[in-house]
Formats: sequence, structure tokens, C-alpha cells
Amino acid sequence: MTGASETEASRRSDRRDGAESTRTAVVFEYSQTGQLIESVDALVAPLVAANWQVRRVRVEPASPFPFPWPVTRFFGAFPACVDEECTVALSTPAEQLRSEPGELVLFAYQVWYLAPSLPARTLLTRHREIFAERDVVTVVACRNMWYSAAGEVHRRLTAVGARTVGAVAAIDTRPQAITLVTTLRWLLLGRREGALFGRAGVGTDELSRLAALGAEISATKSSDDLATVLRDADAAPVVPLLAAADLLAGSVFRRWGAGIRRASEYGIAARVAALTAFVGSLGVAIAVGFPALALARLLGRERFDRVVGTRLDRVLGRSAMSVGASS
Ligand SMILES: Cc1cc2nc3c(=O)[nH]c(=O)nc-3n(C[C@H](O)[C@H](O)[C@H](O)COP(=O)(O)O)c2cc1C
Repeated sequence: MTGASETEASRRSDRRDGAESTRTAVVFEYSQTGQLIESVDALVAPLVAANWQVRRVRVEPASPFPFPWPVTRFFGAFPACVDEECTVALSTPAEQLRSEPGELVLFAYQVWYLAPSLPARTLLTRHREIFAERDVVTVVACRNMWYSAAGEVHRRLTAVGARTVGAVAAIDTRPQAITLVTTLRWLLLGRREGALFGRAGVGTDELSRLAALGAEISATKSSDDLATVLRDADAAPVVPLLAAADLLAGSVFRRWGAGIRRASEYGIAARVAALTAFVGSLGVAIAVGFPALALARLLGRERFDRVVGTRLDRVLGRSAMSVGASS
């Protein structure tokens, strides 16, 4: 990580006359492939164009994670990812890991195994002062399952005294089965494009939505305005079926993670056996559990969505969650 990681190019001086005050924001972002950065670019470009001062800080782990991921590293990372106590060393200079009073904090993260990625979680746990007493907007860009991760982020932000203004979520909007194939192809083989199933990840539809959202955000004068914009624009659309699968799997993942960590105490063979059992159960859950849940939603549509909405309200600490997106 170099000093250039704090992207000064996105700083703009306030050219407005004295009637309006400049709004300032700081974005904390880590990205392996650049997807999260691209999503944040789309969101904040209208802010910069409207003369907001936006400081962007690249968060980097001291030991970079591999990309593409060797299969064993990819599944081997699972127990750490679902362990809420697990963090990694960061190489970002300490003086960049700060925020100023009055600065809006944008916490951008991706999801690893239904939890905030390890570098993102590290920022939340080891650099709490960034968020304490600040207005925070969370921005997640991932395949499509961000609900449990957002729950962990919400709990941590609340615990350090952050004022959560709202959330933005950008996902791969294509069908679940296709994104499963394209995401694995991308992460394990490094091939984001593909003739058969198309491009993996957050697509141009979502980037356009983020840009339109950014334009609305740029006109806000206060965090209260901003919260209203995020809510009215449905900035983090909920897909009930995915949310249900995510919340169910989220707690199961944490139990599997704890089991694998316990097994690891008995040596490498026990760890490999436990991890293999997990991967097998994941395959069964995808092949059987997800279709069963889809059937349950088909049969109990409104009731299903209501139950999911209530559960999400609790997990995300919201009083009125909109459950409007299609599945
Ligand atoms: C180890 C690992 C686990 C992941 N788990 C999930 C997940 O549970 N849900 C999800 O929607 N995306 C998941 N993803 C996809 C990431 O959230 C993200 O979209 C992708 O890694 C690209 O992000 P980046 O290049 O901006 O870091 C996972 C990626 C990795 C590397």
C-alpha cells in the first residue's frame, strides 16, 4: 500500500458560493477485482460533480488474498470468514484510517461467506474510531446474498456508536443458478467474461442505478435528507427468497465454521474432513434446500415475504423494511 492509495484525484474544492456548505465524505473501500471500486465510482461521481469533497481510502490487507482463488484457499477461508472475531493485518497507513467530525462515512464492503469480507470486518473491529459518532452509509457490492453480512455490519456499527443513515446494495441481478456458475468461474478461474453464461458480477444495470442514486444523494443537504433519499429510492432492494436463504444459511454457516475450527484442533486431516463435509452439505443445500425454499415462497407468497421482512427488520435494526423487489 502506498501513499497514493488515498485517492486525491477525487478531492474537489468547494466552488459554490457561501450560501451552501460543502458536504464532505470519506469512503473506505477494499476490492480484489475492482468491482467494489467500480460500484463506488458510479455512486460518488455525481457527488464529486456536485462539488462534494470526497476522500477515498483504499483498505489493503498486509498479505493480499490470492486472485483467482485456488480452490483449497477459497474453501479454506470459510471458517475464518464466518468467525466474527477473525480479522487480518492491514497495510493501509494508520493516518489514512480516520474520519473527521461532520464527514459522512461511506463504508464499502463485499461479502465473503455471508459475512463482511475479512479486510472489511477488520476495519469495523480494529478501527472503530472511524465510525464512532459519525453518520455512516453502508455500500455493499456482491453476488446477491448480503443480508446476514449487513446484519453483522449493523451490529458492529451500532456497538461503536455510529449513526447509520442507510444502506446501498449492488448485486448481480441475473438468475441465481447463472450467478452461481459465473461467480465461481470468476473467483476460481479469474474469468469474469464467458460466452456461455455471460459476465459475472455487478452489471451495467446496477451501475446505472447507483449513478442515479448518487445524483439524488448529491442534492441532499443533511443526513436526514440522505436517509429519506435512500429509503424512498429503495437503495438496497430486498429479494425475499434470497433474503430467506441467506438468513437461514447465515446461522448454519456460523455453526459449521465453529465445528471446523474445533476439528482443526485435532490436526490437518480432521480439518480437511470437516471442510469437505461442509462443501458437500453446501452442494446439497444449493441443490435441494434452495428449490424447497423457492417452493415455500410460491405457496405462501405474501406471508413468506412478511415473515422475511419482519426477520430482516430485526437483523438490520430497521423499523419498516421494504420488501418489494421481485425474485
Ligand atoms: C471467499 C469469497 C466468498 C464469497 N461469498 C459471497 C457470499 O456469501 N455472497 C455473495 O453475494 N457474494 C460472495 N462473494 C462474492 C464477493 O462478495 C464479491 O462480489 C467478489 O469477490 C468481487 O468483489 P471485489 O473484487 O470487489 O473484492 C464471495 C467472494 C469470495 C472471494
